[in-house]
Amino acid sequence: MSETADPHTLTVHLPAVNGAAHDQDSEWCVVETSEGSRRLRFHDYDEIYAIPGLYERLFYEELRCTSPRVVRRLIEDTLEDREMAPSELTVLDVGAGNGMVAEELDDLGAASIVGVDIIEEAAAAAERDRPGLYDDYRVVDLTDPAPADDAALRDTPFTCMTTVAALGFGDIPPQAFSQALEYLDDGGLVAFTLKDRFVSDADPSGFSELIRGLHDDGALEPIAERRYRHRLSMTGEPLHYVAYVSEKAA
Ligand SMILES: C[S@@+](CC[C@H](N)C(=O)[O-])C[C@H]1O[C@@H](n2cnc3c(N)ncnc32)[C@H](O)[C@@H]1O
Repeated sequence: MSETADPHTLTVHLPAVNGAAHDQDSEWCVVETSEGSRRLRFHDYDEIYAIPGLYERLFYEELRCTSPRVVRRLIEDTLEDREMAPSELTVLDVGAGNGMVAEELDDLGAASIVGVDIIEEAAAAAERDRPGLYDDYRVVDLTDPAPADDAALRDTPFTCMTTVAALGFGDIPPQAFSQALEYLDDGGLVAFTLKDRFVSDADPSGFSELIRGLHDDGALEPIAERRYRHRLSMTGEPLHYVAYVSEKAA
């Protein structure tokens, strides 16, 4: 519907909800474009990516998302500590969306970036919004990758993997995250973010257990960890995430 929507005519209305608690998974907004107005759930990424400029307007301008910048900074600090050059990074960006994380990594000086996302609309939006940023972009279900995708990803010597604002909430499940880790070279850096609730022992998403297990059994060596404000909720409350950088052990 919205390939023709002009980002300059986009208006986003956030609901006025009187102090009612809303799960992040059910957040929504009303978007007005030159084609009319419609209500969208924040997690309906296919519909959001299809409207040029909406992802940036909603999550970055209205809700002040910081995650790509925070992860870039953590990676940058890690490289400095290890006296590594950004040009040593061959990045697998998992849950890549329309390229907000890749833009930071490209600006940092990464040698190459391959994007993976589960929906076609993300790949199309990345090409539309940031053409040429990715060396390759694959639409893949990492819980069951097609043989050609699996082979191509195994054949690329990734020295870094990023997964930003894409774990949990019906997005990337633990199994897909584990699969993506297989594509990372031994000694490679993995940078990812998790909602703080998913880090707690009581978390039912499986991520707390997975991450703790990977660190406890030595598969990942923790390097850096930072709790930060990911963005505002639709009602203006801060939503906190934890960003991690770890090294994949041999
Ligand atoms: C909030 S967006 C984050 C996009 C990007 N990382 C950023 O920070 O702007 C979450 C992305 O994860 C993708 N995603 C959800 N489930 C996925 C899966 N199983 N495998 C790969 N990507 C997935 C969604 O399609 C969406 O593009």
